[in-house]
Amino acid sequence: MSIHIGAKQGEIADTVLVCGDPLRAEHIAESYLKDAFCYSNVRNMLGFTGRYNGKRISVQGTGMGQPSLAIYLHELTHEYGVKTIIRVGTCGALNQEIELGDIIVAQGASTDSNMNRLIFSGLDFAPLPDYGLMTAAIQEAEKQNIKVRIGYLFSTDYFYFKDDPKRWELWINHGMLCAEMESSLLFTMAAAAGVRSCSILTVSDNIILGKACSTEERESSFNDMMRIALNIC
Ligand code: HPA
Repeated sequence: MSIHIGAKQGEIADTVLVCGDPLRAEHIAESYLKDAFCYSNVRNMLGFTGRYNGKRISVQGTGMGQPSLAIYLHELTHEYGVKTIIRVGTCGALNQEIELGDIIVAQGASTDSNMNRLIFSGLDFAPLPDYGLMTAAIQEAEKQNIKVRIGYLFSTDYFYFKDDPKRWELWINHGMLCAEMESSLLFTMAAAAGVRSCSILTVSDNIILGKACSTEERESSFNDMMRIALNIC
């Protein structure tokens, strides 16, 4: 057991899918993994291990935002020896051409969070996914005929900044495709721990157009994202 994860040693697989919502972790385990069991319900931040195509995979809820994610990443890498972490989440598009339900594979993540500055004493680190894992996700999408967009994310600490479109101009002008709340720190902490990471996201809303996904759109794009993520584990 670590402080925030109730698993015994050996119960968490080398490869872990992480998502903000613990109930989504449960849904992934129930829908996609064989023989899945819950290894932790500490603070209701559920984690499960099961098998996909014979390979052991875990899925862990992390809560929303970088400070919460950091707790789970630290314990997964330092206490449980996890080697590969794939974020499967949602994001808000920052570009009118990006449609609800589109899938985005992150090429890098900028942030307004102070976490990187704390870690690097005020200097700037460029948070990037593992190149091999990112490429595997892109190739897997091609193989399965799933269209993905590849580009930069903005990981914000403040969800409701989305209501202020002016705030995004500078970032849109620097090529950001979407906003979410976790990938920047995932890439930074994975680099520090020497583990592989990448982020695959579905577009749940469009910040510029003020539109959000219907339940059906959410479901089908979620399935496509999962088919990519699970096959690169
Ligand atoms: N902003 C930040 N995070 C998000 C959003 C958003 O619009 N949509 C899904 N995650």
